[in-house]
Amino acid sequence: MAKLSLHSMHLFNCLTLLLAAAVAGAAAGPPPPALSQRAPPPPTGAAGTAASATIDRILATKWLPEGYGYDWSRAGYAGGERGIPSPSKLYSVQSYGAKGKGDVLEDDAVQAALKAVLKSSGGSVLYFPAGTYRLSKPLYANASNIVIRGAGREETRLVFTRSLSQVYGVQWGIDNCTGNLTGLWTDGGAMVVLSGWEREQRAPPKVLANVRVPAGTVLAPGSRRLQVDSASKLQAGQWVQLVLDDESTAYLPEEECAYRNALYGGGSAAAAAAAAAAAGGPTLSVKSMPAEIAADPIMALASASKAAAGGGDSIGLAEAATLDARERAAAGWVSAAMAKPGTVAAWLYGENLADSGGPGAINNGSVRFAFKVTRKGSGWIESDRDIIYAVKPGWKAQLMQYKPGISRSGVEHLTISFDSSGRYEGHFSDRGYNALQLASARDCWIDSVRIENADNNVFLLDASFSTLSGIVTSSVDRTWSDGQAVNGHHGISLTFGQSVLVTRFDIGARLWHDLHVQRACKLSVLSNGTGVDLNIDNHRAGPHANLFSNLDFGANTRPFKSGGRKDRGAQTGRGSVFWNLQAGAGAASQSIKLPKCDYGALLAFVLKKRSGSSCPESQWKVSTWKSSMPADLHSAQVALRRSLAR
Ligand SMILES: *[C@@H]1O[C@H](CO)[C@@H](O)[C@H](O)[C@H]1NC(C)=O
Ligand SMILES: *[C@@H]1O[C@H](CO)[C@@H](O)[C@H](O)[C@H]1NC(C)=O
Ligand SMILES: *[C@@H]1O[C@H](CO)[C@@H](O)[C@H](O)[C@H]1NC(C)=O
Ligand SMILES: *[C@@H]1O[C@H](CO)[C@@H](O)[C@H](O)[C@H]1NC(C)=O
Ligand SMILES: *[C@@H]1O[C@H](CO)[C@@H](O)[C@H](O)[C@H]1NC(C)=O
Repeated sequence: MAKLSLHSMHLFNCLTLLLAAAVAGAAAGPPPPALSQRAPPPPTGAAGTAASATIDRILATKWLPEGYGYDWSRAGYAGGERGIPSPSKLYSVQSYGAKGKGDVLEDDAVQAALKAVLKSSGGSVLYFPAGTYRLSKPLYANASNIVIRGAGREETRLVFTRSLSQVYGVQWGIDNCTGNLTGLWTDGGAMVVLSGWEREQRAPPKVLANVRVPAGTVLAPGSRRLQVDSASKLQAGQWVQLVLDDESTAYLPEEECAYRNALYGGGSAAAAAAAAAAAGGPTLSVKSMPAEIAADPIMALASASKAAAGGGDSIGLAEAATLDARERAAAGWVSAAMAKPGTVAAWLYGENLADSGGPGAINNGSVRFAFKVTRKGSGWIESDRDIIYAVKPGWKAQLMQYKPGISRSGVEHLTISFDSSGRYEGHFSDRGYNALQLASARDCWIDSVRIENADNNVFLLDASFSTLSGIVTSSVDRTWSDGQAVNGHHGISLTFGQSVLVTRFDIGARLWHDLHVQRACKLSVLSNGTGVDLNIDNHRAGPHANLFSNLDFGANTRPFKSGGRKDRGAQTGRGSVFWNLQAGAGAASQSIKLPKCDYGALLAFVLKKRSGSSCPESQWKVSTWKSSMPADLHSAQVALRRSLAR
């Protein structure tokens, strides 16, 4: 590596703010169905009572103990209510001059076809007939109702000849909190991007009402009715999101930085540059990124993703292990819980049964739950689904618009391959051989896609109600040369978002994080997948109520190996469920080793063969999966919902 170009963290900081404002959503959805707004008066007394025997509740409690299950049946495209569309208005890249013979770069033809698709009124397909297309520029699609389609996973190959670092001439950022180097392409940015992010920036979601909880009461999880100060801006049929904040989610970048440095022992950018120079390391030049590069939407999205991922995760493995040991020694088997009792962050971590993290562990605006208003009256509204959160007096609970930037777009039936990608450069040094990203999206999909030799395979940043099916990844000996048998950074990564279905995947080479879930991502399902040596990485900052179901861990050497900044709380928030997870046929051990008790609180494990503690201190429910039970909890819930809704 010749020269490290360090652009300043200013961009990250600015983007942190932009992203925080944008994580909620904005764009015109379908018109709300005309529903009656007349409804019986709200119950008096308690702020809300758990609706008994909703279908959601029946599903949540049918196979798991009370309080441990959720309704996952509405994960995936359009909440499972409609099939994935298949528009037929094709814009074939061959009509724009591409030949698909794999011998020359065909960026001009492909970009021209993409431009035409983006200009069309929607329902259009950027179509790649069978063949191999060599490309050196990213495909950036920021519109609803468009599809990037090949002729089949094995028939159409998009071969990218460059990394994002080569496209933009920027590989590194500097974390101005810790002063460490941090790869810019480790958490976002990709060669094929579907993004509503720009659109969402332009029209951030507005507050529609404040939720009222009478003093001395708590709105219990499972409620459907919310008392509001005014329902005048709310309509039946409208999608909204409940956003929960309080002092535990306050945005305090300086305190967050101070706490991180106290944990890790930080320096400064200048000190890091000086130290690297003194050690005879590469020449560091700290400079701002040129404005035109910073303004590029893929660069901006990568920076936003990085900010959302916490930036500067640039700690070595040895330090992490030492730190882990130090924390456990200081506070017994569970790390210190930082959030004040009764706060949002404390609740997310089971009332501090697990470490709820330091300042900035759960950022403002990230604990949010999208639903459709079914009815409203004077001072109240009702939701179309059981609200999974408690709401306590003193919390700032707001109903905001829910309109992610794009919907009904997808990528399907093709291979994305990187050639000449060389060896993987190592953790946080990713060069940006990144395949796919979906951002600020709902009702979108990725179907039947093979990815070869990527640093990062699929990033979702604030995508919801979307289906990722048939993703197969592989790697041709990109093993990191320092002896780590790791071929890249992320497999399938979910940051924020709700009710994503990731199913029928195969992670064909070990990555740092095969299945990566972070930042208050919720109600998502990862099912029916496998990997050569699969790991589930709950990456802290409060992912919760996600379902991992019917997975095959392959070699089974690292099923729960998880990372993430240590100041961001336990690996998972409450309510994650691990259902029927198995080792591969050839694994040395068929028994799944449970994670340590500080992994999270209020978790359920239903496994055929297991070892390790059942962690009653963390209030886990650990039981044995039997062949009379559903193999996949998600599809069992879908089937039960269908039969009950009849
Ligand atoms: C990081 O950079 C921004 C912009 O220069 C500055 O406002 C902020 O104080 C810096 N933070 C730290 C911890 O140095
Ligand atoms: C889509 O991206 C192009 C190129 O960055 C930009 O000019 C256009 O405004 C974007 N459209 C939307 C809706 O964000
Ligand atoms: C910076 O990175 C080095 C190398 O991975 C690591 O040893 C150190 O702990 C990191 N420092 C901070 C403050 O993260
Ligand atoms: C988080 O707080 C910061 C600082 O008050 C504010 O600028 C930002 O808009 C907030 N973000 C969200 C999503 O509420
Ligand atoms: C997952 O696997 C189960 C059990 O084999 C099957 O019934 C179900 O249809 C599968 N679901 C998906 C989404 O593939």
